[in-house]
Amino acid sequence: MSQICIVGTGYVGLVAGSCFADLGNDVVCLDIDKSKIDGLNAGEIPIFEPGLEDLVRRNRHAGRLVFTSSYQRAIPPADFVFIAVDTASGPGGEASLSSVEAAAKRIAANLDGRTIIVDKSTVPVGTGDLVSSIIRQHRGDDVDFHIVSNPEFLSEGSAVADFLQPDRIVLGSENPSAARDVASLYRSFTSPIIITDLRTAEMIKYASNAFLATRVSFINEIASMCERLGADVTEVSRGMGLDKRIGEGYLSAGVGWGGSCFRKDVLALEHMAAVNGCHPQLLRAVMEINRDMRRSVIRKLREQLGGLRGFRVAVLGVSFKPNTDDVRDAPAIEIIRLLLGEGADVVAYDPVALPNAANEVKGLKTATDPYGAVEGADAVFIATEWNEFNEIDWERAGAAMRRKFILDGRNLYNHEELESCGFEYIGVGQGRNPSPISEFAAVNAAS
Ligand code: UGA
Repeated sequence: MSQICIVGTGYVGLVAGSCFADLGNDVVCLDIDKSKIDGLNAGEIPIFEPGLEDLVRRNRHAGRLVFTSSYQRAIPPADFVFIAVDTASGPGGEASLSSVEAAAKRIAANLDGRTIIVDKSTVPVGTGDLVSSIIRQHRGDDVDFHIVSNPEFLSEGSAVADFLQPDRIVLGSENPSAARDVASLYRSFTSPIIITDLRTAEMIKYASNAFLATRVSFINEIASMCERLGADVTEVSRGMGLDKRIGEGYLSAGVGWGGSCFRKDVLALEHMAAVNGCHPQLLRAVMEINRDMRRSVIRKLREQLGGLRGFRVAVLGVSFKPNTDDVRDAPAIEIIRLLLGEGADVVAYDPVALPNAANEVKGLKTATDPYGAVEGADAVFIATEWNEFNEIDWERAGAAMRRKFILDGRNLYNHEELESCGFEYIGVGQGRNPSPISEFAAVNAAS
């Protein structure tokens, strides 16, 4: 078993650290945020992630998982040092490398004996070389180290399972034996392992996230067409996804993608492309379509209600997707801001993410359950497809509303069921009122 240090106790670091400990390794999780470390040492998990709390508790108890803010303590005994710090977007969309650079300097100062430094954060192509040069600058040839890129592909909400059963493990290094050493940490996994060079591994991560975002933007563009042309995007997705060459994932139309990764990574890739003389036109369209999906919610609400000022909108779900309390770049948050900006009165409900939402939107009105949120509302907007929203009794909810109108941003419900309870129902990409044939003919003739 190995001695592992994980630098950074965010989503990726904490999940990776506790999973490596569960596989039997001795893991030290290191973070410069002392209050976070104190919390973790007191058994407090800073994020909501199914299964994580148990995993941390079990491995701390077994003495395989410890938390510290001391580089001097954590780095020297480690065989592997994973860098899992944040890489937020800079002003031009570029990934900010300040946390990675700071970590590399402090790792350099404390290296002792052969160490493999593994980049797990999503970092721009070339960052592995940068980390290597920072370490050489600070230690000269006095240290024995190798750099490996091992991007993480876990999704929030299913992070522990994704870490332990990944579709693939990607390892990039200029030193194949170092890459094989990292591969040995995953020896109990059955997933395919790709060993490649450093820059290719770094690019695989960006290309994967950008492709997933592209698929969602693609189906959202098709959804907008379906609304005009009288087709149903859910059936279109199903019909496309059954083609093995296409596959069914990431083809659910909705209010656009969000979260801490897609926007940051698409922007960073676009920036990398642009500064290196490429023309990233597809990535730009992917971003624009996503922005328009959020705006289309405002348009639909305005059209249906005949304005927004003074109308009460209940927003159900504020996290960027279900099973997480993360509201970073959540469509709901931007839509709530737009609604408030237009003078609407908003009341939000979410099973776990309301405290984070209230930090983002000062003075946000919230309710403790969906029924409280819809009280006196003129419209309900479903922003996140939490499972518990399937249990809502819409007869009861509708009775408390001023107007029974539901805008279903995730196509969670069957329109017939809602309409039978007296609701006006609008989903995404459900072309139930297409432009009349005569208009099609006129438009086609004109073009
Ligand atoms: C994403 C990737 O899926 C992970 O593989 C990657 O490791 C992670 O980013 C990262 O780079 O750290 P995550 O941000 O947790 O994971 O979110 P996803 O589950 O991919 O969902 C992203 C957004 O797309 C959500 O807002 C979701 O609602 C939306 N989405 C997804 C759709 O609107 N339609 C779909 O069909 C799928």
